[in-house]
Amino acid sequence: MASPSPPLLLLLLLLFTFSFSSISSLSDPLLLLSKIKPALQGPSPNLQLSTWNSSTPLCLWRGLSWSLSGAELRCNDSTVRANLTLYSDPSLQLLSIRLPAVALSGHLPAELSTFSSLGSLLLPSNSLSGPLPLDLFNSPSLSDLDLSSNSINGSFPTSLWNLCDRLVSLRFHHNSISGAVPDPAIPNTPCSLLQTVDFGSNNLDGGFPQFLTGFQNLQELDLSANNFSGQIPSLASLKNLQSLNLSHNNFSGALPDSFRTSNFSAEDFTGNSPELCGAPLKQCGSGSRLSSGAIAGIVIGLMAGAVLLASVSIGLVQGRKRRNRTKRDDEEMDMEMEMEEGENGAEGKLAVFQGGEHLTLEDVLNATGQVMEKTSYGTVYKAKLSDGGAIALRLLREGSCKDPSACSPVIRQLGRARHENLVPLRAYYQGKRGEKLLIYDYLPSRTLHDLLHESRAGRPLLNWSRRHKIALGIARGLAYLHTGQETPIIHGNVRSKNVLVDEFFVPRLTEFGIDKLMVPAVADEMVSVAKVDGYKAPELQKMKKCSPRTDVYAFGILLLELLMGKKPGKDGRDLPALVKVAVLEETTMDVFDVEVLKGIRSPAEDGLVHALRLAMGCCAPVASVRPDMHEVVKQLEENRPRNRSALYSPVDTRSEIGTPF
Ligand SMILES: *[C@@H]1O[C@H](CO)[C@@H](O)[C@H](O)[C@H]1NC(C)=O
Ligand SMILES: *[C@@H]1O[C@H](CO)[C@@H](O)[C@H](O)[C@H]1NC(C)=O
Ligand SMILES: *[C@@H]1O[C@H](CO)[C@@H](O)[C@H](O)[C@H]1NC(C)=O
Ligand SMILES: *[C@@H]1O[C@H](CO)[C@@H](O)[C@H](O)[C@H]1NC(C)=O
Ligand SMILES: *[C@@H]1O[C@H](CO)[C@@H](O)[C@H](O)[C@H]1NC(C)=O
Ligand SMILES: *[C@@H]1O[C@H](CO)[C@@H](O)[C@H](O)[C@H]1NC(C)=O
Ligand SMILES: *[C@@H]1O[C@H](CO)[C@@H](O)[C@H](O)[C@H]1NC(C)=O
Ligand SMILES: *[C@@H]1O[C@H](CO)[C@@H](O)[C@H](O)[C@H]1NC(C)=O
Repeated sequence: MASPSPPLLLLLLLLFTFSFSSISSLSDPLLLLSKIKPALQGPSPNLQLSTWNSSTPLCLWRGLSWSLSGAELRCNDSTVRANLTLYSDPSLQLLSIRLPAVALSGHLPAELSTFSSLGSLLLPSNSLSGPLPLDLFNSPSLSDLDLSSNSINGSFPTSLWNLCDRLVSLRFHHNSISGAVPDPAIPNTPCSLLQTVDFGSNNLDGGFPQFLTGFQNLQELDLSANNFSGQIPSLASLKNLQSLNLSHNNFSGALPDSFRTSNFSAEDFTGNSPELCGAPLKQCGSGSRLSSGAIAGIVIGLMAGAVLLASVSIGLVQGRKRRNRTKRDDEEMDMEMEMEEGENGAEGKLAVFQGGEHLTLEDVLNATGQVMEKTSYGTVYKAKLSDGGAIALRLLREGSCKDPSACSPVIRQLGRARHENLVPLRAYYQGKRGEKLLIYDYLPSRTLHDLLHESRAGRPLLNWSRRHKIALGIARGLAYLHTGQETPIIHGNVRSKNVLVDEFFVPRLTEFGIDKLMVPAVADEMVSVAKVDGYKAPELQKMKKCSPRTDVYAFGILLLELLMGKKPGKDGRDLPALVKVAVLEETTMDVFDVEVLKGIRSPAEDGLVHALRLAMGCCAPVASVRPDMHEVVKQLEENRPRNRSALYSPVDTRSEIGTPF
């Protein structure tokens, strides 16, 4: 009781010593006789336990050690060895029970927790079954417990760590204990004497028991052959850990760097989820070290409320020498990065992608930024670089991209996506405090939504040729996303607000694939926004269910929006339903925007009717009958407006960015 214990633990211990120590000092041997013995031995008499009887001198009772008047009972004295009444000595205390492999086939009786001096309970390799007694870990002196290789089932009592400050060794290897390992009642309990935790070969589940990393004297930890899952934390705090076995569970994710320098081998981690990676196991992903910089300060500023300001200073670090990279490097460094320390000590990582190499941190010091757009899942800034260039920064909402092992491959893939109808991702920044920025080209273009629905002076005429060109470009961009790389990228948020259109009517999709970086709740907000705005496919309930087919549906709505010149969704405008009604009423020509019909001689010959049919096909309620984006591209290509303007000449499909509308 002398160790400095937190109040709750102290109280528990006091309670227990009070209630049991007074009686147990008298009744230990009697309890043994009356309760412990029949419980442990089970249905058939046990040779060892049969010695626990009053016609046998106490010293000959097998597997037990005692103290008498506070001192360990020595049985090398013939008078003591022969004493037949010793067991009734009131100062007699049971110190340990040690009966390995003696065919005990009963269960652990609750009375085991009532021995005030019982320090060791060692009953490995028997056939004990049933659960652990609920109060076992309130047994006030227990420090060494070995119940390995029995058939104990049920779960660990929540009192498991109550006697933490005297526990030295806990061995439960090879039983049938299930459930999660309970947390200590008092957080940050150091269990400072505990050296051995062997829970191997049970049915335990849940995450890695995180609190174990605070048990600083741990030398042996075996959680093997259970059903633990989730990530393995760093065990670097366990300075004395000599033996570790986490094999044959369902652990996943990246092993912390600390295992790189520890002497634990791959064998200690074998047989887990195939996703478990990092030294000493296989490398995670395809080797991407991100580099660090000093955007952190500003970004934190932005996050801390500066978003409300129209203009903020973006103190990106400037002047870093450019790297001369060889061709081979370029391939390897597809997403490779340099490690940089910011001048203010802020750390972060910058991943640059093809075309973003000029974005070394110091190049963009003192860039000024202004808010372009705010959504529930992030804020977009336009940032002016000192060399006159501009970039678009998307600051992801807090909590985005939490799991780096899942997030990095997605960002790498987005960084590889290059197509003339996509706004390219040039870099990705991750700050020390978890701020995350996606860095894109800034395009001085207007959104398709603005072009179609804002009646601003100087707005260009949007005839069918131009709209067809926009639709085809969007379709090509989506087709590339769906099949241009080994794994498809689902856009996830196809809508006219996410299409930038330059002065040559070349469309570029933005915001593709970022739902994968969001926490599910935020991604699902995108679904509800898509629903309100009319782009949500009927089968799409959760963002993680989005698929190429849900993109096709949204594209169909977008194509209707182009043809009809009407905003979908809002004001109850169900565009497909409007078309259906018009077709039934034989007023199909009335659904087209008047501007679309300008200069059109025959809507059928100019591909207008075909485009309407195609859009309706994309919006089919049953996902499986929708065409894929390649089919959409093909059909749009085959049904062009006859009166092609110069807009279709190949030269201006690669327009230079510069003059805004
Ligand atoms: C008591 O123990 C002795 C061995 O020490 C054994 O021979 C005897 O049968 C036991 N008696 C009972 C009643 O179990
Ligand atoms: C019994 O053993 C202890 C140490 O094991 C020793 O100190 C003691 O003298 C022994 N007693 C007798 C009577 O042999
Ligand atoms: C046997 O032990 C009891 C209890 O400790 C004691 O009172 C008694 O004197 C002992 N008998 C012998 C013969 O030593
Ligand atoms: C534990 O095993 C016993 C048989 O030994 C069985 O009756 C009991 O239902 C099991 N309990 C659990 C929780 O599995
Ligand atoms: C680790 O645990 C597994 C499963 O319990 C066992 O097969 C393996 O031998 C253990 N490894 C070591 C080094 O003890
Ligand atoms: C392990 O846990 C998973 C859930 O995390 C469960 O589906 C599976 O059945 C469990 N496996 C075993 C062998 O208990
Ligand atoms: C790991 O290193 C410690 C000392 O640093 C050593 O005691 C232990 O045996 C080593 N374990 C293995 C598995 O090599
Ligand atoms: C491993 O965990 C994953 C979820 O983390 C689960 O889907 C899978 O069923 C588990 N595998 C086993 C063998 O329990």
